[in-house]
Amino acid sequence: MDQLSYYTSFKSLKDAIQSQRNAVERVGFVPTMGALHQGHISLMEEAHKDHAILVVSIFVNPTQFNNPIDLEKYPRTLDEDVLLIKNRFPNALIISPDFEEVYGEDIHFPGIDLNGLDQIMEGEFRPGHFQGVCHVVYNLFQLIQPDAAYFGEKDFQQVAIIKYMVEQLHLPVHVKVCPTKRNEQGLALSSRNLRLSDQQKEDALVIYRSLHWMQSEIHHLSIQALKEKVVQDFASSSLTLEYLVFVDPHNLAVIETYSGQSVTCCIAAYCGEVRLIDNLSLC
Ligand code: PAF
Repeated sequence: MDQLSYYTSFKSLKDAIQSQRNAVERVGFVPTMGALHQGHISLMEEAHKDHAILVVSIFVNPTQFNNPIDLEKYPRTLDEDVLLIKNRFPNALIISPDFEEVYGEDIHFPGIDLNGLDQIMEGEFRPGHFQGVCHVVYNLFQLIQPDAAYFGEKDFQQVAIIKYMVEQLHLPVHVKVCPTKRNEQGLALSSRNLRLSDQQKEDALVIYRSLHWMQSEIHHLSIQALKEKVVQDFASSSLTLEYLVFVDPHNLAVIETYSGQSVTCCIAAYCGEVRLIDNLSLC
C-alpha cells in the first residue's frame, strides 16, 4: 500500500487481516469519525502496543447525529487523516467505508435496551444518539472482528454504554478506555475543536477550569454549591451550558449529594455553534 491508500471495502480489509493474523497475532481496533488528533493517536498507540494488527476505521456515522446541521458540519479531513496514521503506524490497516457497506443487509443489529443509560446527559439532549452509536459499533465489530477496541474517556457516557452493550450482547471484544488528551491549557482534544476560532478555544477553557475547580472543592462544598458557582461562571462566559451532571462512574446514577462515593462530573456546552463535552473524575 502506498502512503495515501486505505480500504473502502470490508472484504479487502478482511483479506488483509487474514493474511496477517496467526495464532498469536491479534487485532486492536480504533473506531473513529476522522478529523484525527492526538487523542485518536494515543488510542492507536495503545492498540498498536498490545496487538500485532492495528485497524482504524474512519466513518462519519449519520445514524448517531440527531441534528442534520451538525452532521453536515462535522469536519472531514480524510487525506490528512490517512497520512497522519501512515506516518506514525506504517502497517496500520485503515478502512473508510461507505454507508451501504457498514449498514449492509447481512448484519442484523439486534437492538439493545440500554436500561436508562441513554436517557440522561447526551441521551437527553441528543435523542437516538446512543442507539446510533451502538448500531455502528456493533456492525463494525461484526465486520472487523477485533480482539479489543479502544475508546477515549472524553466520551464518558459512550464508553459506559458500549461496555454495557458488549456485556449484554456477549460480544467477544475487550473494551479499552484511554485517558482524555488535552491541550496545554486544558481544553479536551476533539475533532469539533477544528471549528473553533483561537478566541473560542480560549473561551472554552471555562469548561476545564470549572471541572478542575470542582475537583479541588468536592470535599469542602456541597454538590449544589459547586453547581451554583459553575452555572454562574458559565453565565458570565461566552459559552452556553447545556448540562452539568454529577454521576457515579460505575453505573451513571445521578448524584445529588456527595457522601464519599466516586463522582465524575460531565459537562456539555455550546461555544458558538459548536457543542463541546468534557468530564473529570472529582474523587
Ligand atoms: O467516538 C466516536 O468517534 C464515535 O462515536 C464512534 C465510536 C467512532 C462511532 O461512530
